[in-house]
Amino acid sequence: MRKDLRTAIRDARVHLEGAQRIAVLTGAGMSAESGIATYRDAQTGLWEKYSPEQLATAEAMSDQPDLVWSWILHQARVIRSVEPHEGHNVLGTWQRELREKNGALDIITQNIDDLHERGNADVLAHLHGSTFSFRCFECDAPSDYELQTATPEQLAARPELDQLVLEDPPPCTQCQHGFIRPNIVLFGEMLPQQAMNDALDAVRSADVALVVGTSNIVQPAASLPIAASAAGAKIIEINPNVTPLSEDADVYIADTAGNVLPELYR
Ligand code: APR
Repeated sequence: MRKDLRTAIRDARVHLEGAQRIAVLTGAGMSAESGIATYRDAQTGLWEKYSPEQLATAEAMSDQPDLVWSWILHQARVIRSVEPHEGHNVLGTWQRELREKNGALDIITQNIDDLHERGNADVLAHLHGSTFSFRCFECDAPSDYELQTATPEQLAARPELDQLVLEDPPPCTQCQHGFIRPNIVLFGEMLPQQAMNDALDAVRSADVALVVGTSNIVQPAASLPIAASAAGAKIIEINPNVTPLSEDADVYIADTAGNVLPELYR
């Protein structure tokens, strides 16, 4: 439902007033104002020659482990070189406040970055995994590998893929013959079942679902606002561009996460 910005924000506040349980569903647009390009908008830098669909696959990881690992390291450094914005920080504050009132603000994200956590919010479900935890590519054993803090030069550099300094992925210390990979959901892989179950429970018990910065086209994440609505939650969408959800949302707010979330919290 399209309304002018002021009216939309006022209507959203009415739904949020007194809401005890809020589910917040975030996508790449949530991180855009921190400086991480969204999947569908990015046409520059790393994505010019390779799409995530080409590199972020188990097949690519098996065929060219050094290239994929170095690309992942680079992504991790880009993430660590940026900061959470006001929208992330507000969610952290809001979450703590609702918990004190025995309510909940459950964050369910498709993002593999750690900006919600660095905005002092707990993430209930990383539907597509996290860049900062690891397991063995062969035996699946969890790994305690920690990404080294990047040097200022590495943080400043955003090299083209063909200029990456290639590094082999570290070996698995459990099975000795495999190498480690991040716990991200590569293209063609299943989502972590526990994360999806937690997400479904949260949206079904929510009074309001805030859907922020996602194109709402990648399944099964795109089914969550529909599940929330079917269970009686009001749907508020924040996205400067319309998505397949916008028409059916109770309130659609055509602005950015960094602008709108602080307004809604106030
Ligand atoms: N604030 C809010 N929304 C924004 C902002 C912003 N500042 N900037 C961009 N957006 C919106 C865009 O309009 C777009 O609808 O964020 C959305 C980003 O869409 P995608 O790039 O498709 O990201 P997402 O929906 O998270 O993609 C889902 O696709 O490639 C896979 O696994 C990857 O997790 C990713 C999944």
